Amino acid sequence: MRFGENFMDELKTRVRPSDVIGRHVKLKRQGREFAGLSPFTNEKTPSFFVNDDKGFYHCFSSGKHGDVISFLMEVEGLSFPEAVEKLASEAGMEMPKVDPDAERRAARNKVAINWMDAAHTFFMKSLRRDVGSEARDYLKSRGLTGEDAQRFGIGFAPDSFDALRDELVQQGASHNVLIEAGLIIEPDDKSREPWDRFRNRIMFPIHDTRGRLVAFGGRAMERDAKAKYLNSPETNIFHKGRILYRYPEARRSLSDPKNPSRGLIVAEGYMDVIALAKYGFEHAVAPLGTALTEDQLDLLWRAGPEPILCFDGDKAGLRAAFRSIERALPMLRPSQSLRFAILPNGQDPDDLLRSDGRAAMTSVLERAMPLVDMLWQREVQAAPLNTPEDKAGLKDRIYAALREINHDSVRDLYKTRLLERFYAEFGYKSRGGFARRKPQKFLSSDQKGAMNASAIMATREQRLLGAILEWPELLDHVDDSLFAFNFTQPGLSTLLTAILSYQRTTNKVEKSELYSHIEREGLGVTLKSLKKDRRLTMAAMGGSDANLENRLALWNAEAEALLGNVQVDDAREDARSRMADSIREDNAEGLKKLMRASRRKRQS
Ligand code: UTP
Ligand code: MN
Repeated sequence: MRFGENFMDELKTRVRPSDVIGRHVKLKRQGREFAGLSPFTNEKTPSFFVNDDKGFYHCFSSGKHGDVISFLMEVEGLSFPEAVEKLASEAGMEMPKVDPDAERRAARNKVAINWMDAAHTFFMKSLRRDVGSEARDYLKSRGLTGEDAQRFGIGFAPDSFDALRDELVQQGASHNVLIEAGLIIEPDDKSREPWDRFRNRIMFPIHDTRGRLVAFGGRAMERDAKAKYLNSPETNIFHKGRILYRYPEARRSLSDPKNPSRGLIVAEGYMDVIALAKYGFEHAVAPLGTALTEDQLDLLWRAGPEPILCFDGDKAGLRAAFRSIERALPMLRPSQSLRFAILPNGQDPDDLLRSDGRAAMTSVLERAMPLVDMLWQREVQAAPLNTPEDKAGLKDRIYAALREINHDSVRDLYKTRLLERFYAEFGYKSRGGFARRKPQKFLSSDQKGAMNASAIMATREQRLLGAILEWPELLDHVDDSLFAFNFTQPGLSTLLTAILSYQRTTNKVEKSELYSHIEREGLGVTLKSLKKDRRLTMAAMGGSDANLENRLALWNAEAEALLGNVQVDDAREDARSRMADSIREDNAEGLKKLMRASRRKRQS
């Protein structure tokens, strides 16, 4: 233990638990104790108690129990020494001397951090002054208001080699400390004065896990700048592999019982995290332009068991996702996993939120893929899979990945799942029949084929929901395949939920009421985009003259195709087009036969 017993005793006698905890929980005195609503659950009647005499809290609704230090660790996400240090400084106690070197380093860091704060103040002021007018326009063009800038601490570094330096020197800084903080750059040969590192850039403050300002990220405003983003260099206070952008705020939001998420959202850039927070996803963070490190994974898992990593669906995005898998495998444990949200059409969360709104993002997050499925995608995509040798190669890769997992039972479960999938997908015989091909969620072995397939799938999804929007009476007749869809298009599963929730409230579904319900749910944009393809949907469902029975048949065939497989399955396509033929030929008998056959096939 780093702190002596005396020190800890002294600390505990000096701080009153109800004071410290009372800053997070509204406490009311009740006899010798204080009571309040649990910060760990979403309770309505207080079952959270703090006892100053005994120096502990107890939470009946979550079963948690501990002292002020464990409370701060839990609620503010601090490590043990961090919590101790925080309490000690509040209690006006000197931290025990560790060693003189460390002391000196700590003191120097503190000075550096103070100058970072001063620089931050300067950047924020500059954004509001005349020199900042272009920067303000730029932020506006990216959907950020002055209030947003204030809230996220966004500033502007003027287009000057000495504006910041002169300002801070005037405030009493030495060149050396500013160089150490990475704010100014000194030429190797010291032939000239050091100059400002950040020039003509939008400035994002970056805090460490304890909330201290330790770095900046600066975004260039001109399109052809050498580096789009320039970050502070590694310094004594800034180790970028151990920091996640907006971690303190995100972690706090996740620990709020009103937030039901199981983990932080991890985006790629500052602007993504800001957009996410603006749209209500406060629990979002980003690494600083590099792949996730082990330290960063640890930070994620300290906040919640199942962080969701967002990636672009393009090649680079997938590569980045696969790299995080590599990092994560050895670290997997029960309640320590990842999920992967793949964003459509090369968009990042900022793009998606601004174009399609919160519901679209929610739906992308809902569909996030578990790590085990993403691992499968990685191994399947690594090489072609045409020959038996290719398939054996896949199996080898699966085993190699399994060997990376250190935790025994997690590894066993991964093995079961991956081998099951291997046999299912490659049609090996299993238990008296051919294993059914499981529906694939996205990209398959042949990336091009898969892209194609996913476009087909998207069309099918749109047609299926589009048809229901066009003829809501279908709702009363379609079978429960409707509930089995795993929509890949953003917004569609939320839309379906909205449709079903409306259906439950009424005996007869009215189109106009259905639409206004959907709009009230904030899904107007999705609704509009489906209505755009209305003609195609109608044509695919037998045209405007078709009767309910025919439409239903086509709808079911379409649903069948969607549930059956991503890959274009010739047999199914064939069945579908024969059904369409029967309808056109008004051949009721033939149609019935085809439908029976397809149902049998589905149930087998
Ligand atoms: P992106 O290039 O994906 O940009 O970088 P972005 O976040 O979408 O930025 P906007 O929307 O164009 O403003 C993602 C992250 O990678 C790091 C930054 O941390 C950035 O937020 N990065 C990017 C750099 O460090 N340097 C660069 O030149 C580019
Ligand atoms: Mn972006």
